[in-house]
Amino acid sequence: MTILNSGIGNYVISDNREYSYFGGNNYLGLANHPAVKESSIQAIKKYGVNFSASRRTTGTADIHLELEKELALFKGKEDAIVFASGYQGNSILLDILRSRYSAVFIDQQAHPSIIASIPRDIPNVHYYEHCNTSHLEKLLDEHRGLVPLVITDGVFALTGEIAPLDKIYILVNKHHGLLVADDAHSTGILGKTGKGTPEHFNLTDSGNIFQSETMSKALGSYGGFIAGTKELIDSIREKSSIYQACTALPPHIVAASLSSLKIIRENPELSGHLLERSVALRKEISGLGYKTTQFITPIIPLMFSALAKAKDLSLFLEDNGIIVPFMNYPVKQIKYILRISVSASHTSGQLQLLLELLNKWKNKNGTD
Ligand SMILES: Cc1ncc(COP(=O)(O)O)c(C=O)c1O
Repeated sequence: MTILNSGIGNYVISDNREYSYFGGNNYLGLANHPAVKESSIQAIKKYGVNFSASRRTTGTADIHLELEKELALFKGKEDAIVFASGYQGNSILLDILRSRYSAVFIDQQAHPSIIASIPRDIPNVHYYEHCNTSHLEKLLDEHRGLVPLVITDGVFALTGEIAPLDKIYILVNKHHGLLVADDAHSTGILGKTGKGTPEHFNLTDSGNIFQSETMSKALGSYGGFIAGTKELIDSIREKSSIYQACTALPPHIVAASLSSLKIIRENPELSGHLLERSVALRKEISGLGYKTTQFITPIIPLMFSALAKAKDLSLFLEDNGIIVPFMNYPVKQIKYILRISVSASHTSGQLQLLLELLNKWKNKNGTD
């Protein structure tokens, strides 16, 4: 494990050495943005570091309500609610929606937070082959009569694949079900205004699409959120024990999110710029012969059949001043993955050096 002695940015410090950094999820470069940091500092001066109580007791401050209002505006929804982590969002949703479905259908490579969200009392849980809508359709047909809730990552954390939400939504509607997208890696990035995968596919929501989102990735801050109708958000406030029994988000985190949202609102070109450079880099990497996925997202996996090769490439890059982590992460995968995470703030020099080193390593070791 690489231990960092610095914050996350284009460059990081580890063991007194500076590295060009392609890890993490700092897609828009906001985690270390001067304005975001300054907002956090001011919030600590005003509120201290911790509200030390649940939102339901004395843990709600004006700044929480301000953030929820801003998130609702950003998402074009009636209301929004923030809570301790993005990981909790799926569990909150599946719990609150429980009376509206009788079977759950999950992508086989779903994030652990999705698997953990399956209610204990549900006998009907079915895993469909990864992103395979024909298989999902078959399972849905086999279980006619049940009301399905289909849940998937919007963008898959390790591979950067975008779930085929357009096709999934047709099936969901055919079976009068619900769709939940975990958009942890899509918020602020996908869709014309960064609203995530439903906007990316221009889906018209008939009131049965729900998103679980996080402020810890593109927003560069921390904490989970759900935006939706007033009725949905009120029922989370009134009924979700996860929401009610967790300590409120710390004030400096809330302030950081507010600051990030402002930057995103004032710089709508940020996400487009990120996607363009991600597409360009992916094309170059594919051109070198590396196996990767073909999507527009800033997560570019380098996929290997042999563990030793994946690890060797990661070490080679590190020796040459670049961190691209080998992914040892609890998601089911058939390949060994080095995960390149592109940030809007990477310089072209950084991308160029990465490509040169990938080319050099490939010439000696091949690409599989
Ligand atoms: C798909 C997905 N969902 C949820 C989460 C959890 O979000 P958070 O880190 O904000 O708790 C992650 C985090 O890595 C993720 O990749």
